[in-house]
Amino acid sequence: MSVHKASDVKRVTTHTLQSMKEAGEKIAMLTAYDYSTARILDAAGVDVLLVGDSASNVMAGHETTLPITLDQMIYHASSVVRGVQRALVIVDLPFGTYQGDSKMALKSSIRIMKESGAHAVKLEGGQEVEESIRRILTAGIPVMGHLGLTPQSIYKFGTYTVRAKQEAEARRLLKDAKMLDELGCFGLVLEKIPAALAKRVSRSIDIPTIGIGGGADTDGQVLVTQDMLGITKDFHPRFLRRYAELFDVIKEATAAYVRDVKSREFPSEEEQY
Ligand code: KIV
Repeated sequence: MSVHKASDVKRVTTHTLQSMKEAGEKIAMLTAYDYSTARILDAAGVDVLLVGDSASNVMAGHETTLPITLDQMIYHASSVVRGVQRALVIVDLPFGTYQGDSKMALKSSIRIMKESGAHAVKLEGGQEVEESIRRILTAGIPVMGHLGLTPQSIYKFGTYTVRAKQEAEARRLLKDAKMLDELGCFGLVLEKIPAALAKRVSRSIDIPTIGIGGGADTDGQVLVTQDMLGITKDFHPRFLRRYAELFDVIKEATAAYVRDVKSREFPSEEEQY
């Protein structure tokens, strides 16, 4: 077995992602919120780890992404950064830390970069967050955009169904994507939009697109790790492929442990001093 020293591993950068798009190599991105999981995902070869504000749902049990705070995101992000040798680590700017106030957007982004050691930030929206993006970029902080179903706007949408099915919304999304590219964003998440539109956007802009429920023609794919591993149980959107059923695996292992403790089967002679 070969052991990597930190210096042996070539880090993924925003430039790597651009080269991958140009070479037609797909980008594999997953979410991560803690050190132990980040280590496993990084060792498995994932290119990008997103410290998503989905931590609000997955880690804290909230119904939406809105309650998570900047301090909580920084805690998750710094844990992930410590677990990673190769992957690019991107952190979501949480709700209320960048909209409508570009100075606050810059301050929030600087805190994330300084206090967590992450490599880039992501934020939701198009034209309405243009000024915030411009200001964050002036500090040399790489920014990833996010269009389509943007969960921080769930109370505006009223539903988690597919976005931009109608021509007017699709046209607006394409315009926003081009604007994000021209502003200097290094990538763009496209969430839950028709595959044909995601393909059109991906071919119309130079920066890589990462899809979640956007079909096969985006430049990469992202899933929430707990969904992909089957840790979350009751979430079955069409775009989700489960690669394991860890809820059941963990439940069975835990039940076996409980049985062994109660029956005095654990610990054995060999498991004590
Ligand atoms: O917060 C998150 O996990 C995300 C992904 C779904 C793209 O933004």
